[in-house]
Amino acid sequence: PAPGWSIDADVVVVGSGVAGLTTALRCASAGLATVVVTKARLDDGSTRWAQGGIAAAIGEGDTPEQHLDDTLVAGAGLCDEAAVRTLVTEGPGAVNRLIGTGARFDTTEAGALALTREGGHHRRRIAHAGGDATGAEVSRALVGAVRSAALRTIENALVLDLLTDAEGRTTGVTLHVMGEGQHDGVGAVRAPAVVLATGGMGQVFSATTNPPVSTGDGVALALRAGAEVSDLEFVQFHPTVLFLGAGAEGQQPLVSEAVRGEGAHLVDASGTRFMLGQHELAELAPRDIVAKAITRQMRLTGTENMYLDARHFGAEMWERRFPTILAACRAHGIDPVTEPVPVAPAAHYASGGVRTDLWGRTTVPGLYACGETACTGVHGANRLASNSLLEGLVFAERIAADIVAAGPQERTPERTPERTSERAGDQNPAPAPVPLLAAESRTAVQRIMTRGAGVIRSASTLAEAAERLEALGRTADAFDTDAKDAVPGVEAWEATNLLLVAQVLVAAAREREETRGCHWREDRPDRDDTTWRRHLVVRTGPDGR
Ligand code: SIN
Repeated sequence: PAPGWSIDADVVVVGSGVAGLTTALRCASAGLATVVVTKARLDDGSTRWAQGGIAAAIGEGDTPEQHLDDTLVAGAGLCDEAAVRTLVTEGPGAVNRLIGTGARFDTTEAGALALTREGGHHRRRIAHAGGDATGAEVSRALVGAVRSAALRTIENALVLDLLTDAEGRTTGVTLHVMGEGQHDGVGAVRAPAVVLATGGMGQVFSATTNPPVSTGDGVALALRAGAEVSDLEFVQFHPTVLFLGAGAEGQQPLVSEAVRGEGAHLVDASGTRFMLGQHELAELAPRDIVAKAITRQMRLTGTENMYLDARHFGAEMWERRFPTILAACRAHGIDPVTEPVPVAPAAHYASGGVRTDLWGRTTVPGLYACGETACTGVHGANRLASNSLLEGLVFAERIAADIVAAGPQERTPERTPERTSERAGDQNPAPAPVPLLAAESRTAVQRIMTRGAGVIRSASTLAEAAERLEALGRTADAFDTDAKDAVPGVEAWEATNLLLVAQVLVAAAREREETRGCHWREDRPDRDDTTWRRHLVVRTGPDGR
């Protein structure tokens, strides 16, 4: 249906995690008319679930150069060094500005930031809050700042499509809002700058650390809008997710790498520390290496999980340092103080996303991407632990600077005919309606992906996944744009977005015939720098083909 209402702004930010809210705050404080739209409530995204912390070279003796080295090694030859340099050099300042926004980090007795370690880091470099509740504190501080800033927020707003003018420049977004009063139903925010910061796509798999809202909406929208997307095959599986039994589905509790950073051991059912001798950093090897080692050990021992043994921390340390994880374990009947914690890998982070330059600009003019939605080049084939909140902060500031530098743009809807507009005289025809999947197909997508494109893949599992996704796609139905009541619900859009990103992910994983970073092809077990030290970039049409 055509937008029933519209709001004009200088910038519309889609998503309300660290990336979206930081962008919005910086744009608003520079005097730009800023609107944040978010699919659920402001703090419902992934940010608030982050545990370990934010990596930045702020400790004594640490340098951005050392942080750069660790990031490049973890990225397995595919990081963009200029992007990483930007991240690590601007990181410490960005963390300080976050503190200025009101985020309270844990400190030492001397008053310095307390720093921990995680996989792939050669030194203590990770600032944390509330012990293991860093994301919750970051989210609290940013949501608080947004609520008192001069900007507008619209919650329960699912973004449907990008609006563009005859030259292909961004002119805003259409969205479907539910239960927010004044702006309900399908409407539009018209703005010359749109920032996609919708988080990740972990829900494309059955078991994930991501919340239910992480359905790849930003990447799907970017694909429909013809923007380039890159590196989708590199899905990071977090090695230590609380194992709740084979077949557990949906969001699973994370057991932070910081638990290993503070000295927990990975053991199998017999108590053997199987990471010893596998990597110089043992349990603190980069995440992809630990996830693979766990998976191999599970196969070797015919089991479905390994264990994280941190009984030696004792009750006091568990309660002080890891209260969130302790509570989650106990809620599931496991006491880490007296027993090893069962863990297994689960989908955690999309290292790829909407391709951007160093200012967050995508290949569609006026369209930006930030945070997990984006592929800035800092993660390569495998993100270094705790670089994600940092990426959100650093690139949000750069995007805001770029939008502010462009200044408020003239907003003249008459001169910017939108693709979905039905006004007479539009130069662009309305696009064919997106065929939507039934909401129930979400589970089917997740099971197909878990079976065929999970932590271990091969040509045959990927081919089967592609075939089954294709068949599922044939069940999608175009909704009737003329029927006033035919606005499909969020669940149908989410399932449709999941299918689209799953199909692109599988296509990329089939094409990349090697093993690199978090892309593990059992049939191509070696890294092939001759052929594959390059990125797979995808651009599709409005129907996702
Ligand atoms: C964790 O706390 O282990 C997660 C950190 C991250 O994903 O970077």
